[in-house]
Amino acid sequence: MTTANVTWKSRWTFILAATGSAVGLGNIWKFPYITGEYGGGAFVLVYLGCILLIGVPVMIAEIMVGRAGRSDPVHSMSKLGREAGKSSYWGAVGAVGIIAGLMIMMFYSVVAGWALEYVAQSITGLYSDASTDEIETNFSNLLSDNTQQTIWHSLFTLVTASVVAGGVTKGIGKAVEILMPILFGFLLLLLGYSWVNGDFSAGLHFMFDTDFSKLTGEAILVAMGHAFFTLSLGMGAIMAYGAYFPGKTSIGKTVLTIAALDTVIALVAGMAMFPLVFANGLTPGQGPGLMFVTLPIAFANMNGGLFFGTIFFSLVSIAALSSSISLIEPGVAWLEKYGVKRSLSTFGLAGIAWLGGLASIHYGAVFNALDYITANIMLPIGGLLIAIFVGWVLPANITATEVNMGEGLIFKCWRIALRYIAPAGILLVFLNSLKLI
Ligand code: PFF
Ligand code: NA
Repeated sequence: MTTANVTWKSRWTFILAATGSAVGLGNIWKFPYITGEYGGGAFVLVYLGCILLIGVPVMIAEIMVGRAGRSDPVHSMSKLGREAGKSSYWGAVGAVGIIAGLMIMMFYSVVAGWALEYVAQSITGLYSDASTDEIETNFSNLLSDNTQQTIWHSLFTLVTASVVAGGVTKGIGKAVEILMPILFGFLLLLLGYSWVNGDFSAGLHFMFDTDFSKLTGEAILVAMGHAFFTLSLGMGAIMAYGAYFPGKTSIGKTVLTIAALDTVIALVAGMAMFPLVFANGLTPGQGPGLMFVTLPIAFANMNGGLFFGTIFFSLVSIAALSSSISLIEPGVAWLEKYGVKRSLSTFGLAGIAWLGGLASIHYGAVFNALDYITANIMLPIGGLLIAIFVGWVLPANITATEVNMGEGLIFKCWRIALRYIAPAGILLVFLNSLKLI
């Protein structure tokens, strides 16, 4: 076994790659629609609490393990476990994470495929001047057109695999260096557009008026699960990227940058969508179709709608791509350790995910189950085990050296969050949703 000898070109490439992984369909597609389904403000508040108290500490832990282990999640965790005089079985956490990544890819690529279809529809002006009804029908037609969905899903999977097959520096690194500036540019353009055209007040009330009576145990579980999903935590994606982290710089600031960007982009996406939902007499709780219905309605009726529609759905596709590559990378890195050629392992794993994607296209229940099980069960359990591993199993002097944040207040807060707050929080939410407390 060799240790990873590739690194990102610079700390910035790491930040771009990790932010690319975090910012994705979770922010723009999923966050607004689950906020709609679970009733708005109180849900958003719980989600923000989970990001800060659980997500940020776990992300620091993941990057630390990856950088210290300099390997894929399985080998990094087993190596650190062994070196600490504890068990190398901790590698199993990484293995489950690799499977979770493929399972996420099985529905992620389908939604990304919808976004690609909407890029095409925007460019060809298919929904311009269409009525609200026509646009709703248009989306349900896509959902029942399995051939069309398969074409886009296959294309998206192929592009993802081609990037990952290119390797860490020339594939993933190069891709995020090109994609992320475009993503940020498009986002600013759209922000300006909705600033001029949007009506924020109803949307703001929906997102930030907290009505705790709407907050069920299920809603809390989904909010916590989404905190993991949106930050790409609990499955080793960020850990795998951390293995290529150059040098020994402090991890804390890097993580705050990534988490802040991810959160802001989710909130902005919500604030762009809900005003339109209410202005057009739609319901916020209509589920996965929310983005594909409300935004086309707006774009259909607004000046420059075609142009901005094209920009918007291209942005979504780019965000999805910079995330999907990180869903495959942990498994590829793991197989690389056994001498499997990168191109072979990439297309092999992408092929498995592609087959699962066919199943979620054909059976809505498969789509929903993959989404629910990964986000609300596998990622939080993965995160819990990573928190226990770094907080309790690894000795404090080793973590202190490896995270390199000094041994002052920030380090102490991080360790308390990791040892007590995150594990207790995750367990409480689970017990609560199992109706045991
Ligand atoms: N964080 C991504 C999003 O919000 O769309 C989804 C994701 C990517 C989850 C990579 C997990 C992961 F490992
Ligand atoms: Na995200």
